[in-house]
Amino acid sequence: MSLHKIAVIGGDGIGPEVVEAGVEVLEALAAVEPGLAFDFKRFDWGSDYYRRNGRMMPQDGLEQIKGFDAIYFGSVGDPNLPDDVTLWGLRLAICQGFDQYANVRPTRLLPGLTGPLRPDLGKQIDWVIVRENSEGEYAGVGGRAHRGLPIEVGIDVAVFTRAGIERIARFACELALSRPRKLLTVVTKSNAQRHGMVLWDEVVRGVLRDYPGLSVDWMLVDAMTQRMVNKPGSIDTVLATNLHADILSDLAAALGGSLGIGSTSNIDPSRSRPSMFEPIHGSAFDITGKGVANPLGSFWTASLMLEHLGEQAAARRLMVAIELVTDRAEYLSPDLGGAASTAEVTSAVIAAVSGVNSPSS
Ligand code: IPM
Ligand code: MG
Repeated sequence: MSLHKIAVIGGDGIGPEVVEAGVEVLEALAAVEPGLAFDFKRFDWGSDYYRRNGRMMPQDGLEQIKGFDAIYFGSVGDPNLPDDVTLWGLRLAICQGFDQYANVRPTRLLPGLTGPLRPDLGKQIDWVIVRENSEGEYAGVGGRAHRGLPIEVGIDVAVFTRAGIERIARFACELALSRPRKLLTVVTKSNAQRHGMVLWDEVVRGVLRDYPGLSVDWMLVDAMTQRMVNKPGSIDTVLATNLHADILSDLAAALGGSLGIGSTSNIDPSRSRPSMFEPIHGSAFDITGKGVANPLGSFWTASLMLEHLGEQAAARRLMVAIELVTDRAEYLSPDLGGAASTAEVTSAVIAAVSGVNSPSS
């Protein structure tokens, strides 16, 4: 019997709606998967918490969640608060505090969905983007000076360290090797960014020597956007810096049908701290509280969390259920061109998880 302790942080906007839908689905899975059980604990951190307490989470927030097996996260961001305050106060504070240096973003065009690409190209999309998640352009190093004066300056320093590059490169190589095509594309911009990105290239090249079984190619980030659109089938696993992968993964999500489906893991591969799983869509205040948010991103995210927890059978069962629902097209939310509510999509996935109307029944 494996009991998984999950810290649930719904956060802002539609975050709590989609995460609670995910908890329902996970409970349904636990009811049918032998030995699977969860102990969920909710944390009401986020922008409302900030309005009450002047901070996004308690001072000892990381202490409170460090003993959990995983963190199931919704979203963060509020139209009435500065984004840098809300993000750095919660999501980035957890990623950095727990050294979740590997951000993993899978994209596939799920059955029944049509993305913006020609159908023959769209169905070739089966990618995993590995995003460096601890340094680069998100290191938080920099400053402002001469505020309010004409000579005011704002500086963000992109930090690249040998250790940081090496560990994410190794992670990406291992992941690429575990996939059937064993194909890795390394994204860079060393033609223009001639210090950090040149170090990136050198260190990645060194790591690649330990992985002779991989097919590797290199792309400049700008050219990569074109390749994703024009030759999606030529890509499998992608390694990129924090900011480059941030941008590429939004493009990937759009090509995969909707930002509402994209999912992410923020992983501490050393497993000394909990990893965090979240849908990639934001807090979407325009549809908050209307009950129409697409919960599929948070379900796919839950499947990634199950994989990380070693629950491969449950992870697969959930993915099959999601694909069954997208394929039937009856229960698609508005962002996918349907009219189904969050609750209807959730019930459909739960029915599929529980074997009702499943392919095997
Ligand atoms: C993402 C988001 C975040 C990021 C924002 C919300 C800070 O865009 O997860 O991709 O840039 O990392
Ligand atoms: Mg992003």
